[in-house]
Amino acid sequence: MSDQIHIPVTALTGSATLQPRIAVERSGSVEAFPANGRTFYLETFGCQMNVHDSEKVAGVLLHRGYRQVDSPTEADLVLYNTCSIREKAAQKVFSRLGQLRHGADRQLVGVLGCVAQQEGEQIFERAPWVNLVCGSASYRRLPELLAELEAGHRRVVGLDTNPEEPFETEFTKRDNPFRAYVTIIEGCDKSCAYCVVPATRGPERSRASDSILAEVRGLVDLGYTEVQLLGQNVNSYRDPSPRRLSFAELLDAVAQIPGLRRVRFATSHPRDFHPDIVQAIEANSVLCDHVHLPVQSGSTRILQLMNREYTREQYLERVESIRRARRPISLTTDLIVGFPGETEADFEQTLSLLDEVGYDGAFSFKFSPRPNTAALRLPDDVPESEKGRRLTVLQERQRQIQLRRNQALVGSTVEVMVEGRSRPGQWTGRTSSNRVVNFSSPRVPNLGEYLQVRIQAAGPHSLVGEQVL
Ligand code: 5AD
Ligand code: SF4
Repeated sequence: MSDQIHIPVTALTGSATLQPRIAVERSGSVEAFPANGRTFYLETFGCQMNVHDSEKVAGVLLHRGYRQVDSPTEADLVLYNTCSIREKAAQKVFSRLGQLRHGADRQLVGVLGCVAQQEGEQIFERAPWVNLVCGSASYRRLPELLAELEAGHRRVVGLDTNPEEPFETEFTKRDNPFRAYVTIIEGCDKSCAYCVVPATRGPERSRASDSILAEVRGLVDLGYTEVQLLGQNVNSYRDPSPRRLSFAELLDAVAQIPGLRRVRFATSHPRDFHPDIVQAIEANSVLCDHVHLPVQSGSTRILQLMNREYTREQYLERVESIRRARRPISLTTDLIVGFPGETEADFEQTLSLLDEVGYDGAFSFKFSPRPNTAALRLPDDVPESEKGRRLTVLQERQRQIQLRRNQALVGSTVEVMVEGRSRPGQWTGRTSSNRVVNFSSPRVPNLGEYLQVRIQAAGPHSLVGEQVL
C-alpha cells in the first residue's frame, strides 16, 4: 500500500500502566499508520532529556501520519527542540530560525523545548515566521496543537507551567536500537542559582514505578539490552504509586527484569545521593559501574553562592561512599568556572578537588548568566578572558587525570557493547563504566553485541584494544 508509511517505533499505550501494545521486531518496522502526506524535520539541541523528548515528539508525529525527512528544506513542518542552559545554545536556535525566514509561505516552523518555554510568545516577535511555540510541559497537548496548525492557525502556543505528570506517548520513535532512554522523573525542585531548568521544565513530577517497570519490560521484549533512566535529578525520585519505591528500590526492581544487561541513570544530585544507591549498584551487576555526580565547584563558598546545598566536605563524603563500593565505580562530573565572585583561590579549590577525586570524565563550562535565575542578581564579574583561561587550565588538568586513570586499565579485559565502526577494521563500543573502547576483532561483530576486549593502549578520552575470543 503506497500511501502507508512503515516506521520502527516502540508502541506503548497512553494509559497509566503503559503496557506494551504490540510486539515489535527490534530492527523491523512495526506499525503502519496512514500517511497524511505531510513531512517533518526535527533537530534536537541540549541534554539527553531533550533527545528523549524528541523521540516522543517524533512518535506523536509519525502516529499522526507525518513522514520524517533529513533536511529542513524538504519538510512541511520544521521543528527545533531547543536548549537554553547557556546563552550560546539558545542563540544557535535563533540562527537556525534565521535560515528559515524565506520559507514561510511553504513550510510551518515550530520551536519546542527550553527556549520555547523561556522566551514564550516573544519568539513570534523575533521570528514572525514561527508558527508553533511549545515548552516541554505542554507536549501532552501536541496532538491538539498539531491539529490547530493543520487547520490553518498560524500562531499556536503551548506554554503550560504546571503539568501533573511526566510526558508519555503512545508511540516513541527511539533512535538507538540497543540503548533506550526511559524517563523516571521530570522537572526540578532545586534552585541552583545559575540554572534555568526549574523555570523551563517546571516542578518535579515522578512517574509511577509500575509504569516505568512495564515500559522497561516492553523494551526488553523489543530487544533492548540497555536502558538509561532519565531525569534532571533521578535520585529525587518519589514513587507516586502506593508501592512508594525509593530511587534505590526502583533501581533494584529495574535490575531484576530478566534480559536486561545494563542499566544506567543520570543525573544524580549530590545532596540526595545516599548510600542505598551505592548498595543497589553493589548488589546488581546489571547496574552500570558509573555515577555522574555534578559538583560544579570545589569551593564551599562558591557552592553556597550557587545554592547547591552541600559543602566540599559533604560532597567528598558522597565520593568516599562510592569509592568504598565492592567493585570500582567510575565517577564523572560537571563543573562551572567563572561563577560570579569566583576568585583565583576558589578556582584553585576546584583544581584541587579534581586531584582529590580523580574523576573519570568531566564536562566543564564557563558560567553563562541566564534569565530567571538568582545568579542574574550577582555581578558577572569574572572577565570572559579569565573564564576562558580557567576553563583551559581545568580541562588540561582533567585530561591528565583521565589519561592516568585510563592507562591503569591497559592489560585488563573489559566487556564492551558494540555500537558501531570507528574506522575500517575497527569497532567502537562502551564499557559498563561508560568508557569508549575502539577495538579490532577477527570477525565482523554485530551491533549491540557484548564482547570481551583486552585493553592495549589508552588516551584521555578512549581506550584501544582487541577482542578476546
Ligand atoms: N552557565 C554555565 N553552565 C551551566 N550549567 C547549567 N547552567 C549553567 C550556566 N548558567 C552546566 C552545569 C550543569 C550542566 C548540565 O550545565 O554544570 O550540570
Ligand atoms: Fe538544556 Fe536544561 Fe533544557 Fe536540557 S533541561 S535542554 S540541559 S536547558
